[in-house]
Amino acid sequence: MQKTKKTSLKSYNSFGVNAISTKFTIANSEQKITEFLERISFSSPIILGGGTNILFKNNIDTNIIKIEIKGITITSETSKHIDISVGAGEKWDDLVNWSIQRNYGGLENLSLIPGNVGSAPIQNIGAYGVELKDCFLRCRAVSVESGTIKIFNSNECDFSYRSSIFKKDLKNKYIISNVSFRLSKKNHKINLSYEPLKKHIINKNITEPTIKDISNSVIEIRNSKLPDPKIIGNCGSFFKNPIISLIDFKKLNETQNNVPFFNVSPDKVKVPAAWLIEKCGFKGKKEGNTGTHKAHALIIVNHGKATGKEIFNFAQKIKNAVLRKFNILLEEEVNIIEN
Ligand code: EPU
Repeated sequence: MQKTKKTSLKSYNSFGVNAISTKFTIANSEQKITEFLERISFSSPIILGGGTNILFKNNIDTNIIKIEIKGITITSETSKHIDISVGAGEKWDDLVNWSIQRNYGGLENLSLIPGNVGSAPIQNIGAYGVELKDCFLRCRAVSVESGTIKIFNSNECDFSYRSSIFKKDLKNKYIISNVSFRLSKKNHKINLSYEPLKKHIINKNITEPTIKDISNSVIEIRNSKLPDPKIIGNCGSFFKNPIISLIDFKKLNETQNNVPFFNVSPDKVKVPAAWLIEKCGFKGKKEGNTGTHKAHALIIVNHGKATGKEIFNFAQKIKNAVLRKFNILLEEEVNIIEN
């Protein structure tokens, strides 16, 4: 375990915001997490994974613990599937590549998502028709209040769109140390439910896509519109796609043409936040050191020297504009850390 007095968080958050932490600790095992919690008398720390979904609004005086538990272990296997247990500090996309290389199916649609394995269940990461919950078995987590270990199965995680129990009742109450998945070994379920992915595969003249084909296509689509945080600071989608009632959706269609939507339930639809933001004139807009990406209105970027506050204020401006124009309140997907 390493403890430093003052640490710049610039390389620990994909927005590339230069916030300063006064109490920064790295833990590479469950035991190190428990020791850390004892040292801080079980007070509430900020838990940091890959830093790809977090905005530090200010410098941080609260204790930060960065989880770097590594390792991918096969725990059981049948002729049909394989169960694996993965350290929370593994990079998500390294895990996806590990599975594709071995022809284990389930994670291919989730290729290239930034962030670490331990953060994935917290917001039930999802893309191109698949969510983490689809191949999740269980996770191990350390209680912040007692240092004891608890195992959560899928039901206990209470997964929903970009959410779980760890974002609701148990927010900041557990530190996830390890996540287990079940992957297929054969007869992989190819998921082409996301229309642009299906079109991409058809355009490539692939008739029977393999999980490698899916992964490659997802990577190509993502690279064509999502900026690489190593080149331009960002956290992917800044807001969630709002879920609205069918009644409100019909009202929206009275004033707007061809509003895109995804069905959620018989009386609810999800409207792309990117569309709402673009309609408010924010696509590709630059304001000082921040702005939205030119290829995707939902992605707020750091043009180089933005502070957390600048990014936050710009996001609020977008939120206000969408509220005024559409009477829809956007909800942040990114975690905003105040201090
Ligand atoms: N659109 C616009 N303007 C834009 C971009 C998109 O109007 O600048 C409209 C288009 O109609 C498009 C629709 O928005 O068809 C949806 O856009 P896209 O396919 O890019 O997906 P998204 O809904 O914006 C979600 C996830 C992404 C995930 C993609 C693909 C959320 C908040 N975001 O984005 O996840 O990669 O679907 O599955 O659900 C992330 O969480 O950081 C993330 C990137």
